[in-house]
Amino acid sequence: MLQDYPSARAAGCPFDPPPNLQALREQAPLVRVRLEDGSTPWLVTRYAEQKALLGDKRVSSDVTKPGYPMPMANGVPRSSGLSFILMDDPEHARQRRMVSASFTIKRVEAMRPGVQQIVDDLIDRMLAGPKPVDLVKAFALPVPSLVICQLLGVPYDDHDFFQDNSKVLINRYEDPAARTAAAGRLFEYLDRLVGAKLDNPGDDLLSGLVGRIQDGELSRTDAAQMGVLMLIAGHETTANMIALGTLALLENPDQLAVLRESDDPEVVANAVEELLRYLNITHNGRRRVATEDIEIAGQVIRAGEGVIMPGDIANRDPDAFPDEPDRLDIHRNARHHVAFGFGVHQCLGQPLARMELQVVYSTLYRRIPALRLATDIDKIPFKHDASVYGVYELPVTW
Ligand code: HEM
Repeated sequence: MLQDYPSARAAGCPFDPPPNLQALREQAPLVRVRLEDGSTPWLVTRYAEQKALLGDKRVSSDVTKPGYPMPMANGVPRSSGLSFILMDDPEHARQRRMVSASFTIKRVEAMRPGVQQIVDDLIDRMLAGPKPVDLVKAFALPVPSLVICQLLGVPYDDHDFFQDNSKVLINRYEDPAARTAAAGRLFEYLDRLVGAKLDNPGDDLLSGLVGRIQDGELSRTDAAQMGVLMLIAGHETTANMIALGTLALLENPDQLAVLRESDDPEVVANAVEELLRYLNITHNGRRRVATEDIEIAGQVIRAGEGVIMPGDIANRDPDAFPDEPDRLDIHRNARHHVAFGFGVHQCLGQPLARMELQVVYSTLYRRIPALRLATDIDKIPFKHDASVYGVYELPVTW
């Protein structure tokens, strides 16, 4: 029988993929699922096939192509203008190249002392304030928001505005009119900023794009869309990794103790990879449509058929992670995970996300060794309704 997609994570297992999807992975590498609009794309359940398809030029990320497995909200396709993440090469590569220099390991490493300062200042403020405190509001959201604002040249004072609108955009059940309105507000905001930088450029990523507009390489609309993509991708994802990662570590005190006691950057870097694998917060799956017939794992995906690749079940595939993949083990080698995707669209911001998480995980638990939950785990609101998984609130004390 065809299963509906997406399916829910089970109550009581907040870190695990939906059990029915894990079961499908054991049955076959490719199965048909049913989406809300009645279409029946392929679900790719295993790590090897997901990587093969994500690296295959015969799959497209273009949502306007017939057969694309469109995410729905309340029966209506979730329209989205998320810039080059939804384009194919060569235009995707052309636009991506315009911003990729800001995310090289060298550029990101130069930002590390500034990120450490941001993290230390926020912890100072938490320690000086009342407790319990909501770690999401006091720490997890501000860290990546401050960093991406600095990088893009967006005023951090506007954080309530862009965080609230991003939240609406990534909610799977949000009223379509409300989503469109939120997308419009974010676009107008970035467009205004780009306009201001046309008159008065600074030393930031958006000002770099303004130079491209002036050279006739990029339209102002595309520049603003790129700004929206990087502003949302740059804060939502990392914020959820900080809060959900902290919760996962609090639930695994032996692993938390390793991070609290080790000052070895290798141990921390390894823990970041394992937490990315284990939590896989972009839990709705990479979506593509085949542009040609593709033969894979004894099946033929026909041109025009949709393909969905949920990283959460790939990252728990025992063929790729043999030693009890459903267990969090910060010492395992997890570097080959697909939490950042794979292929031409793999996460542009991954060096930045990695560095931010390394700074956070190596600082927070050492500076607040008695950090603990201030409520029961079953009272924590999980983001089952959002396309980026995490927690809405994380009350902690020490
Ligand atoms: C832990 C944090 C993060 C996670 C788990 C994550 C995850 C992902 C994933 C899975 C994709 C692939 C999408 C696809 O194949 O369709 C992606 C793409 C992307 N991410 Fe991230 N991301 C994170 C942080 C960031 C940050 C900090 C930025 C900074 C701007 C960023 C910017 C982007 C962009 C621009 C793309 C589109 C790349 C392309 O289409 O070529 N991400 N991300």
